[in-house]
Amino acid sequence: MSVVKINAITVPKERADELVGRFAARAGEVSKMPGFEAFELLRPSDDRDVFLVYTRWRSEDDFQAWLNGPAFQHGHKGHNTQGPVGTGSELWQFDVVQHEEAPGS
Ligand code: HEM
Repeated sequence: MSVVKINAITVPKERADELVGRFAARAGEVSKMPGFEAFELLRPSDDRDVFLVYTRWRSEDDFQAWLNGPAFQHGHKGHNTQGPVGTGSELWQFDVVQHEEAPGS
């Protein structure tokens, strides 16, 4: 079964649009990686200030290969040039124990 890796980024409300803008210009390299299954940028629609960057991978090894490789560096280049938007981030890790998708979704 797959693994889910979520980067939970705390972003002050006044900078939320800026974070969305950065992701709009994202490298898109993650989806070319072997074992990549899904990506979603989740913006809070309640009063929280935590964005979730949801990724799903075929295996832990596939995730580690991306995390430790050049595609991850490239995908996060904006940090080096523009500084961080978030005030903190935390990696949440899960094993998928059940999975179902609507056909054609
Ligand atoms: C210090 C921790 C991290 C912060 C603050 C952060 C923040 C960001 C930001 C702002 C972007 C947009 C591109 C840019 O402006 O650079 C980005 C891209 C991305 N981040 Fe992170 N990130 C961190 C670590 C991680 C981790 C551990 C994951 C694993 C789930 C992850 C998943 C992604 C993905 C999938 C993209 C899009 C890359 C692509 O399209 O190739 N990030 N991140």
